[in-house]
Amino acid sequence: MERDAYEKLPPGELIERIARAKAEKNAVLLVHNYQKMEIQELGDFIGDSLGLSQEAAKTDADVIEFCGVDFMAESAKILNPNKTVLIPEREAHCPMAAMITPEALRSMKTAHPNAVVVCYVNTTAAVKAESDICCTSSNAIQVVQSLGDREIIFVPDKNLAAYVAGKTGANIIPWDGHCYVHADFTLEDVQEAKKKHPEAKLVVHPECPPEVINEADWVTSTSGMVTYVEQHRSDIEKSGVVIGTEIGLVQQLKNRYPGLEISPLSDWAICTQMKMNTLAKVAWSLENNEHRVELPAEIMNTARLSLERMLEVT
Ligand code: 13P
Ligand code: SF4
Repeated sequence: MERDAYEKLPPGELIERIARAKAEKNAVLLVHNYQKMEIQELGDFIGDSLGLSQEAAKTDADVIEFCGVDFMAESAKILNPNKTVLIPEREAHCPMAAMITPEALRSMKTAHPNAVVVCYVNTTAAVKAESDICCTSSNAIQVVQSLGDREIIFVPDKNLAAYVAGKTGANIIPWDGHCYVHADFTLEDVQEAKKKHPEAKLVVHPECPPEVINEADWVTSTSGMVTYVEQHRSDIEKSGVVIGTEIGLVQQLKNRYPGLEISPLSDWAICTQMKMNTLAKVAWSLENNEHRVELPAEIMNTARLSLERMLEVT
């Protein structure tokens, strides 16, 4: 059956097909926190970039169906070169990952020959292969601290770089990239949220601009936000919480804790690329073994070192 035909099937049938194909193929469904709720509900593991990499590194499934954006599925493939890694939508690219090329990174390395290169996991495999160590939003501080007082090239997110530099005092040379979803949060959004929810704590992602981060009570990765809400339930019952990240995570939290007042910092923080995956595409992908993530062996072998160094430090 063609992929478009799956879109006409009822959700119940798609869910049955996904369950059947997963059992037949010994597949695991790894799902990022920003995915549509109907996909999150079927995930064997739902998490942030670090959790998903750790899960990919230890899975004994034969097939990994990865619901997220392409750099996440590529990381799963790099960590499991002999497994089949599938993505439901080939065009789900993270725009921030496209903001730095291996050529641009090589020029930066030439300009700063003594610097160590830290790449955010939101990068292509080729950029990871040019880097010394990878990091995610949940371990960037730890990774940078593990490098002592060396000069650091940090790519591609300038906001995460500024946050980590502020927390560690490290000498960081940032690349001028950003995430369009988080870079759009403004001080006005913060002021409006504080007016509407004067007692609520503000929890934001480190990809937000510095002026937003400076107003936050807590800065953490998407799964760090889930842990924050779990650990502060009684405070949130009294005063609420405002969450500054993509709306998919806010929806997940609202579903988990229907009694809590959990508000988005903006209703418009939507990552279109994350939302390209649908139940129909997941069913099609699993039943047809498409789209397979394939990368050149030499790039995978070098990129793996930067991911493995990160996993060792974390
Ligand atoms: P997390 O690793 O915090 O889930 O972030 C991934 C991402 O793409 C943020 O925009
Ligand atoms: Fe990339 Fe931002 Fe979307 Fe995350 S939310 S995948 S960083 S564009």
